Amino acid sequence: MLRLRLRLRLRLGLGLGFLAVVSVCVVTVESRCSGGCDLALGSYYVWGDSNLSFIGEVMAVRVAEIVSYNPDEIPNQDYVQTDVRINIPFRCDCINNEFLGRVFRYSVRSGDTYERIATLYYSNLTTAAWVQKFNSYGASSIPDNATVNVTVNCSCGDSTVSENYGLFITYPLRTGDTLESVASAANLSTDLVRSYNRNANFSAGSGLVYIPGKV
Ligand SMILES: *[C@@H]1O[C@H](CO)[C@@H](O)[C@H](O)[C@H]1NC(C)=O
Ligand SMILES: *[C@@H]1O[C@H](CO)[C@@H](O)[C@H](O)[C@H]1NC(C)=O
Ligand SMILES: *[C@@H]1O[C@H](CO)[C@@H](O)[C@H](O)[C@H]1NC(C)=O
Ligand SMILES: *[C@@H]1O[C@H](CO)[C@@H](O)[C@H](O)[C@H]1NC(C)=O
Ligand SMILES: *[C@@H]1O[C@H](CO)[C@@H](O)[C@H](O)[C@H]1NC(C)=O
Ligand SMILES: *[C@@H]1O[C@H](CO)[C@@H](O)[C@H](O)[C@H]1NC(C)=O
Ligand SMILES: *[C@@H]1O[C@H](CO)[C@@H](O)[C@H](O)[C@H]1NC(C)=O
Repeated sequence: MLRLRLRLRLRLGLGLGFLAVVSVCVVTVESRCSGGCDLALGSYYVWGDSNLSFIGEVMAVRVAEIVSYNPDEIPNQDYVQTDVRINIPFRCDCINNEFLGRVFRYSVRSGDTYERIATLYYSNLTTAAWVQKFNSYGASSIPDNATVNVTVNCSCGDSTVSENYGLFITYPLRTGDTLESVASAANLSTDLVRSYNRNANFSAGSGLVYIPGKV
């Protein structure tokens, strides 16, 4: 009887130990992000057949608000020239306690693919793989008229780099970009821009970097 009780206690002890390990892991996952921030910007490259009402619709923001963030690029609210970048404001959430991003809801048009949604409609602010990851539909079985989740990553800064910047632009790199060209377009030093994107290859022609922005 005593032996049984001892064994039981031992098992319980091991069980508690296991629970402790599990909860440490859960705590680690939880600490990857918390809260997010009210404002982030997405650098949207205005492609040929797009227009402000379409961009406002997919990015879930009023056209007037887009205009207010881009006085130089959009002097007239009825028209935006193509092949320029404009900044789109959006809220940056802590998603699943794992990373900072915003999940937009996109209403599928007949024939849409994750590739088209990511590289055209969301102007490479995300990738086909990253869009698909948050949807139950397979790549070749998106129903017409479905609503899909489109996740765009964002940043709220990095206190280990600087407390001075709290607003960040999610910036899809394009062919021809370099660290120098990106920094100079933002009127920032290459050192500062690099410090927020330590491992990025700015000349890769694709991929996301984060640029400190002004309100
Ligand atoms: C705006 O762009 C979308 C996407 O290309 C297109 O479907 C829509 O017809 C355009 N609207 C206008 C008014 O041009
Ligand atoms: C997105 O990136 C692809 C591959 O680099 C490019 O072909 C496409 O034109 C880009 N999309 C936009 C809207 O610029
Ligand atoms: C978004 O961030 C997650 C987590 O850091 C990363 O795994 C993913 O590749 C990123 N997506 C894009 C499109 O950069
Ligand atoms: C979109 O994300 C929500 C919340 O995570 C989820 O409930 C829903 O099923 C997702 N949509 C698709 C099409 O998978
Ligand atoms: C999708 O929506 C369009 C317009 O509302 C409608 O004509 C069409 O029948 C719908 N298709 C499906 C598969 O529900
Ligand atoms: C660029 O930054 C410098 C110093 O930070 C400032 O003096 C200058 O006015 C800025 N130029 C523009 C175009 O914002
Ligand atoms: C960055 O990407 C460019 C274009 O793909 C490539 O030529 C270059 O070698 C890369 N640089 C590094 C350091 O990986």
